[in-house]
Amino acid sequence: MAVVRILAIESSCDETAAAVVEDGARILSSVVASQMTTHGKYGGVVPELASREHLRAIVPVVREALERAGCGLNDLDAIAVTAGPGLVGSLLVGLTYAKSLSFATATPLIAVNHIEGHIHSVILEAGAIELPALALVVSGGHTHLFEVREGFHYRLLGKTRDDAAGEAFDKVAKLLGFGYPGGPVIDRLALHGDPHGVRFTFAKMKGNALDFSFSGIKTAVLRWVEARDMEEEIAARRALLRETPAPTVDEWLAVTPQATLDLLASFQHAVVHELITRAAASAESIGARSLIISGGVACNSGLRHRVSEGRLPYPVYFPTPNLSTDNAAMIAVAAFPKLARGEFADLDLAAQANLTLA
Ligand code: KG4
Ligand code: ZN
Repeated sequence: MAVVRILAIESSCDETAAAVVEDGARILSSVVASQMTTHGKYGGVVPELASREHLRAIVPVVREALERAGCGLNDLDAIAVTAGPGLVGSLLVGLTYAKSLSFATATPLIAVNHIEGHIHSVILEAGAIELPALALVVSGGHTHLFEVREGFHYRLLGKTRDDAAGEAFDKVAKLLGFGYPGGPVIDRLALHGDPHGVRFTFAKMKGNALDFSFSGIKTAVLRWVEARDMEEEIAARRALLRETPAPTVDEWLAVTPQATLDLLASFQHAVVHELITRAAASAESIGARSLIISGGVACNSGLRHRVSEGRLPYPVYFPTPNLSTDNAAMIAVAAFPKLARGEFADLDLAAQANLTLA
């Protein structure tokens, strides 16, 4: 059978990405232009700036993905694009460009849900996964638990009622002067602190016990900071960030006292514990034969370490770190079964900021 090549475009948040994937399994190219330096100084993604950066990056990023894959627009079997969820102004840039390419080359257009993409980033590397699987999608925008059944049918079992886990990492980092994104820096510094130094408790959820809530721990960190005199160390970290956009661990350690390192380690420990506990309870409730953990927070070394120690009774799959955070290869992989089913989108496909998966 002839090979099937899909070009995918992803622009739902602050990464402009394009990839070419063959047969839903082989990445010929995956290009990601990050806007981290643009948003870093604001402590979070600024939607207007994100759209402008996507506009700047979209054409060169797609061109580079095609060049690296060694294929032209006429060698493609489909063009896949993230239709939501995400920032509407950001989604529109990728969507409009994908539609134009689809129209100009008479190549079918496939709409992909960003969350489904994150689930497929694992499938891309692991190949066949034992189903039913429990998928924990945990990033800056989502903290969702899905049952994944044969034929890629999804059922939502739980989700965050307020902040996403990655958002909690980002907000705590911003509050303490560590810049954006918060996850990677907290992850690296948590290794130098005592995970039991500060006690955090999570309220029991009323209603669906598989839902998450991370606003409480964020407020607990805020109270902890307010109860101490931390202005000087926070100012020192902000000054460091102004001088060096990406400080090394040693540079951070020089401006971070032990008590703050203990706070970071304890915060990460508590969030990871919460994620694993609810994922394991959900997996048990559906008799899952595997657990998939994806999204930016899946990069967290504390989470990976605890899972590896947890002796869960089923295999656990993580994507490699560069496929955990936003990328377009995962969008192409999620589009592959849709191509086989002939699930194509019309050119009036709209960006859906609040698109759900199930
Ligand atoms: O999947 P992603 O790139 O974008 C969204 O769809 O949101 O995830 C980005 C999020 C950010 O909140 C970032 O702080 C978090 O993932 N993140 C991490 C780590 N690396 C990225 N959180 C914890 N530990 C990490 N190592
Ligand atoms: Zn994402």
